[in-house]
Amino acid sequence: MRKLLVEAPAKLNLGLEITGLRSDGFHELKSIFSTVSLSDSLTVSVNQGVSGVKLQCSGIPSPGNKNNLVWMAAEAFLEAAGISDTTAVSISLRKSIPSPGGLGGGSSDAAAVLLALQELTKIRIDLESPGESLGSDVPFFLLQTGAAFVTGRGEILEPVELPDFHCVLVHSGENIPTPLAYKLWDDNAGDLTEAWHISNYTARKFGAWHEGKPFPVKLDNQFLPLLRSRYRGVDHAAEELSRLTVNWGLSGSGPVLYTLFRSGEEAKDAEEYLAGKFPWVLRCQSR
Ligand code: C5P
Repeated sequence: MRKLLVEAPAKLNLGLEITGLRSDGFHELKSIFSTVSLSDSLTVSVNQGVSGVKLQCSGIPSPGNKNNLVWMAAEAFLEAAGISDTTAVSISLRKSIPSPGGLGGGSSDAAAVLLALQELTKIRIDLESPGESLGSDVPFFLLQTGAAFVTGRGEILEPVELPDFHCVLVHSGENIPTPLAYKLWDDNAGDLTEAWHISNYTARKFGAWHEGKPFPVKLDNQFLPLLRSRYRGVDHAAEELSRLTVNWGLSGSGPVLYTLFRSGEEAKDAEEYLAGKFPWVLRCQSR
């Protein structure tokens, strides 16, 4: 039996713009993704001469069966590598990234399993296509660059360099599954093919630290106004974070929001201010 212990980091969206609706129902985005030190931990092992997938979960509750993306990732790898009948995979998953969170936790876990299985079996397959079908954020986590300018459905990636930052994440207490957030967008944002719906800033500019400011100027997320108007918790979190700094935003389609700071001390002060006001407050940093 061969075994690997891997970390699957969460990501933050440093701004998010929805630029179009595709014929398959997915949306085109522009965003800067950055991984942070909050992560899930996985132990992945392979056994030759037997078959099947086993999964054990701990930490934040997640399904210990084939509905879990890590299970699907293992099956997709075994299938694509042509070793489903001769190799068994066991996964132990310790979840620390809330889901739904807008933090890419499930996609990160899936990418970690694909990468671990490639390492353990020494079989090189194209991970991109199983990755993309597992989740829109999987291609970013497969890239392992820390930060990227992300377009398309999430599969067009350009690595970017970001300065290190400290952050505090806040769970707004709302349950906002990703498909629901996109449906709300479709139902309320009108016809995305019309030019006036496409905001005129370029997400790429997020990568350039604004003169005199420690963080990208634009942390706007187009889901935010919509979710603030529907979810009291999101509005409350937005209000509290905007009291602390201008460098705050919503990650993905929520329900987690974040603030960015240059120093650990500032982040610590913010964490103390926010603790107790929300169901989950966590200080971490870019990685
Ligand atoms: O790919 P993922 O599992 O993250 O997507 C969950 C849901 O979010 C999709 O079924 C789709 O409704 C929506 N989505 C989208 N466009 C994206 C990413 C997600 O419409 N780029």
